[in-house]
Amino acid sequence: MPIVYRSACAQDLERADALVVASINALTERHGFGSIAATHPTNFQAFSLKDDARGLWVAEEAGEILGFAWSWVCGDLWFLAQLFVSPGRQGSGIGAELLKRTLEHAGQSGATSKALITFSFNTVSQGLYIRHGLYPRFPIYNLSVARDVLTGRLQGGLLRGIPLRETASHLRDLALIDDRSLGVSREKHHRYLMGDAATKGFLLHVGSECVGYAYVSAGGHIGPLAVTRPDMLDAAFRTALSLAAEVGAPQVSAFLPGTRDDSLNTAVEHGMRITLPMVLMSTRDLGDWSQYVPRNPGFM
Ligand SMILES: CC(C)(COP(=O)(O)OP(=O)(O)OC[C@H]1O[C@@H](n2cnc3c(N)ncnc32)[C@H](O)[C@@H]1OP(=O)(O)O)[C@@H](O)C(=O)NCCC(=O)NCCS
Repeated sequence: MPIVYRSACAQDLERADALVVASINALTERHGFGSIAATHPTNFQAFSLKDDARGLWVAEEAGEILGFAWSWVCGDLWFLAQLFVSPGRQGSGIGAELLKRTLEHAGQSGATSKALITFSFNTVSQGLYIRHGLYPRFPIYNLSVARDVLTGRLQGGLLRGIPLRETASHLRDLALIDDRSLGVSREKHHRYLMGDAATKGFLLHVGSECVGYAYVSAGGHIGPLAVTRPDMLDAAFRTALSLAAEVGAPQVSAFLPGTRDDSLNTAVEHGMRITLPMVLMSTRDLGDWSQYVPRNPGFM
């Protein structure tokens, strides 16, 4: 039976997520990190599919999904949210075929910058991406701490968090922060997050100046977080730790880029432990990552 490569549809997303979870867990178990992934509602996949279906692909054989690729585009940035092949079928060219198709999405949308976040211990994915012109830039660590440990270490001197609303003035502030940090507008993604009942967003102020934004999830996870200038990142991250602790989830976590010594120090001083090392790969330097903390490897 030949392998068919076709555009994904809404009915594929749950099965594709099950494949992604199995593929992540096979990889992390192999490298001593244990089983780390669980299935989740496929809301962001469904949002991306509706927004621009050209980035989502499946590899299928006799009705079984063997691989899944998913990219999204914002402005001139193409981002590979997921590329996963079924554990028993890796190493036979399926990943490369899927990648080729999602990369066409970049060309079709006129994106000039390409990026992704992958596991820093996966030699196969990094080798494959290098072959396609995406090179490793810096580590990104998933860090986590028990809320009880964190609350005992939180300090004052924080920024003022104002709950985000989908108003013209808040969207304008978000656009300015994105422009100063990443250099691309992520308005559609902000609207997605603001519509997500399990996520709270905040604009961060010093006096009357809006210097950044931060989102925290009901599970205590921080991100995305961005600031208008590098000297505000650490204060914004400290504020986000406080906001995340207030959520009340047992753990607080974040994906911190290795570009900032101060925020890595802050994380460690607050008891955070590295749970997973990842790496950002891109075609060229991408925005200013001394001003950005991603949400996760798929949302960026
Ligand atoms: C990464 C993944 C999607 C690749 O798909 P795949 O079908 O296994 O890969 P392919 O067979 O198409 O291509 C493998 C390529 O990786 C490269 N590669 C493999 N091992 C390598 C190594 N040690 N060093 C450098 N490059 C390597 C080669 O270019 C190889 O192609 P070639 O054999 O034709 O030269 C798949 O292995 C997977 O799902 N892994 C686990 C999950 C994961 O890490 N996904 C990426 C998340 S961003």
